[in-house]
Amino acid sequence: MKSAALRLLAGVCFAHVAAHGPALAAPDIRAGQALAQLHCAECHAIGRSGRSSRPAATPFRLIPQRYPVEALEEAFGEGITGSHKGMPDFAFSPRQVDDLLGYIKSLARRR
Ligand code: HEC
Repeated sequence: MKSAALRLLAGVCFAHVAAHGPALAAPDIRAGQALAQLHCAECHAIGRSGRSSRPAATPFRLIPQRYPVEALEEAFGEGITGSHKGMPDFAFSPRQVDDLLGYIKSLARRR
């Protein structure tokens, strides 16, 4: 029941962000990191080093080298389930997409 647990965690996380974050224009990179940790780290390396536990899953720090991060925004908003085998179902709010992409961009910047 891993995906049920993920959904529960996602709900908790979302409630947390909703409670503490008024909608600001700038992405909340820490919130994005928390989202990545919660939803993505199971398969992708999400930090500035390390390997993905699934070899096919691109480490997040390399994603900005492959795609303009803006091009991912639409895909994330619609749910990236389509291109992901075995990916738990989730849909991110625009706010969460911004935070997640802000985090991914920050990895590229700090390299
Ligand atoms: C259950 C495992 C799994 C989870 C969880 C997962 N991914 Fe992936 N992801 C993959 C695999 C495997 C690939 C490569 C193959 C594919 O696209 O299906 C991939 C590919 C990608 C790509 C394309 C990278 C490229 O180089 O083409 C992006 C972007 C991505 N994932 C983002 C995310 C984000 C953001 C999350 C969390 C919200 C996430 N993934 C969660 C397994 C996962």
